[in-house]
Amino acid sequence: MPYLKGGTALIFYLMTTLSSSPGPIGVFDSGYGGLTILDEIRRKLPQYDYIYLGDNARAPYGTRSFDIVYRFTLEAVNYLFSQGCHLVILGCNTASAKALRTIQQNDLPAIDPARRVLGVIRPTVEKIGEITSTGNIGIVGTPGTVRSRSYDMEIEKLYPGFRTYSQACPMWVPLVENGEAQGDGTDYFVKRDVEALMSKHPAIDTVILGCTHYPLLKDKVEKYVPEGVKVLSQGAIVADSLADYLDRHKEMAARCSKNATCRYLTTESSDKFSESASLFLSEPVEATSISL
Ligand code: DGL
Repeated sequence: MPYLKGGTALIFYLMTTLSSSPGPIGVFDSGYGGLTILDEIRRKLPQYDYIYLGDNARAPYGTRSFDIVYRFTLEAVNYLFSQGCHLVILGCNTASAKALRTIQQNDLPAIDPARRVLGVIRPTVEKIGEITSTGNIGIVGTPGTVRSRSYDMEIEKLYPGFRTYSQACPMWVPLVENGEAQGDGTDYFVKRDVEALMSKHPAIDTVILGCTHYPLLKDKVEKYVPEGVKVLSQGAIVADSLADYLDRHKEMAARCSKNATCRYLTTESSDKFSESASLFLSEPVEATSISL
């Protein structure tokens, strides 16, 4: 680099080295919900390095506008890229519904066309064809995910002829975030919203838990759906889909480092994150606080 001098050459060298050397897989969520995705991904692909980022200071995203969710998600993705991630999974349905497409189509080409951001909605929808018998699919999610109609549109695209019925459950994320997943009071809201969903069509035979917080409420949802209705969590589905993706994209797999480590970042207090994360994971974690 004879035309670059001193500091400039060093910065250029560091930038190109960082952008080409293998880095961890980033997993992002507005808060703790994405830990249910991370947990299953690490179970399936333990050899990789991971960075989990929870934007806990600004969660929940579910009731926020399209523009705000997009802006917050892009900030988080850029932060994970700055930490050396080449691949980021949005472990959040709300962010996948409201920000993923714009980031993939408008932002990534300018940031770095070789990096990838993947969501959780498409892999979940791909799976339902194997599960439903009636083609009547129920979806529970945050108000933002339900309003976006992302699930309905993906399902229409992939399975024309299937019918979708959605129910927004605005209380479920706050209940889980506040450690009330097992609380008796939570039954009231789960029962109310599940009954509202099921009243939309008696032939619904599959219910997608379309929010990464909801696996913690799966027992309660199963308690209130009619017998025989299948309740689908996304973690294992997303993990299988990621394993398949890395298998088909060897160049990306080579750019993901493999030392079996996991770092946890939060925009809230690190102590608070470490304490609450134990509700979602079986192992204790130590988080670091960052600002976006
Ligand atoms: N866990 C996120 C999701 O899957 C939503 C939580 C929130 O409202 O921030 O949609």
